[in-house]
Amino acid sequence: MIEALRKYWFRCIDCGARYDGDEKIYFCKKCGGLLDVEYEDSELALIPWSKSFQERPLGVWRYRELLPVRDDSKIVTMNEGGTRLIRCRNLEKALGVKEIYVKNEGGNPTGSFKDRGMTVGVTKALEVGARTTICASTGNTSSSLAAYSAKAGLECVVLVPAGKIALGKLSQAIIHGAKVLAVRGGFDDCLRLVKELSRDKRFYLLNSINSFRLEGQKTAAFEIYEQLGREVPDKLFIPIGNAGNIVAYWKGFRELKSLGLIDKLPSFMGVQAIGASPIYKAFIQGSDTITPMENVETIATAIRIGRPVNWKRALKAVRETNGLVGAVTDEEILNAQRILASKEGIFAEPAGASPIAFLIKAVKEGLIEKDSRVVCIVTGHGLKDPDVVLKQVGKLTEVEADIDSVLKALRAASAKAI
Ligand code: F0G
Repeated sequence: MIEALRKYWFRCIDCGARYDGDEKIYFCKKCGGLLDVEYEDSELALIPWSKSFQERPLGVWRYRELLPVRDDSKIVTMNEGGTRLIRCRNLEKALGVKEIYVKNEGGNPTGSFKDRGMTVGVTKALEVGARTTICASTGNTSSSLAAYSAKAGLECVVLVPAGKIALGKLSQAIIHGAKVLAVRGGFDDCLRLVKELSRDKRFYLLNSINSFRLEGQKTAAFEIYEQLGREVPDKLFIPIGNAGNIVAYWKGFRELKSLGLIDKLPSFMGVQAIGASPIYKAFIQGSDTITPMENVETIATAIRIGRPVNWKRALKAVRETNGLVGAVTDEEILNAQRILASKEGIFAEPAGASPIAFLIKAVKEGLIEKDSRVVCIVTGHGLKDPDVVLKQVGKLTEVEADIDSVLKALRAASAKAI
């Protein structure tokens, strides 16, 4: 096996200050900016992509040499990643687009893409000797952190917005043994509080402020490249909440480029729910900064965020790749969720269906070429939030336990359908 990369450090995304990769910091000590993990280019170039990686199954740790972990014996893994890239021929036909794929991140161990980040992040928590992991969450981060912390034998504390988290996600955090506090406020309040808590040395913060998480999440870009036969899509449709994941994909594709494996990046098509869309607003106004939104609201509770921490790099990712940021209504999200489930058999939670909603809109508005190859990132499984579906249907039809009643009810149902 190739010697793992040893040379990495943090670089402030604002002032460029450099810090040792083993320091327990989340922000630049000089200007407060977010940190990026950087590797020695010359070392990256030494990695024989095809040989060492292909001996391992598709998944986050296939790319071990591109991940910033010191000690293999500490890796906390549930074989995350390696999710299916599904060709969606019915959608292609309906929308008249040449190639549409879904990268189904709902297939991860806890049902969302967060597991890619947590396998690296919780491993780093062990490396720095933390006892307790903490996060703020709209749901999925808490499910994932709770599960990985349980496996690692760490305590876990999560702060969630009271009454605004899907039941599936909440039950996961609870059953994995996290201390769950429901904060009377939104996600942005929860994040402010855990940032304060993280000053206490006992706590290790695992929101996407923690750049190690994004290192794990970037592996989805490597997988897409491999699953498409070593090519990149023309367009990548991806939801934006706190804006960590879009930044992670951007980093993944940029690393492929610096390894000389690809010569262009996909255009990033980020999408927000209209009721929580500060990055969309900045994008259409051509602004270099966002105006945080106070009273955010959307059925896609996973992305109900008004003050996304990673907004700066998200805007850069979109602008530098000639992409777009779109905003979709709750109705468009629910419609996309239904279409994806009923035409392709893929059940996405509302935030996970938002890229499909944006794709449908982009096609209608002539924003993408019909001969494009499109990949949509379905970030979370529909079973996380079954209430959203059930609330839309009336009472189920009940029948007596005899065949005549069943046939009669079926006739009535098909008459209604016509
Ligand atoms: N899709 C789903 C299903 C999510 O859970 C999230 C974020 C996103 C998209 C957006 O990703 O924040 O990296 O831009 N969920 C976080 C959480 C905020 O707490 O679970 P992002």
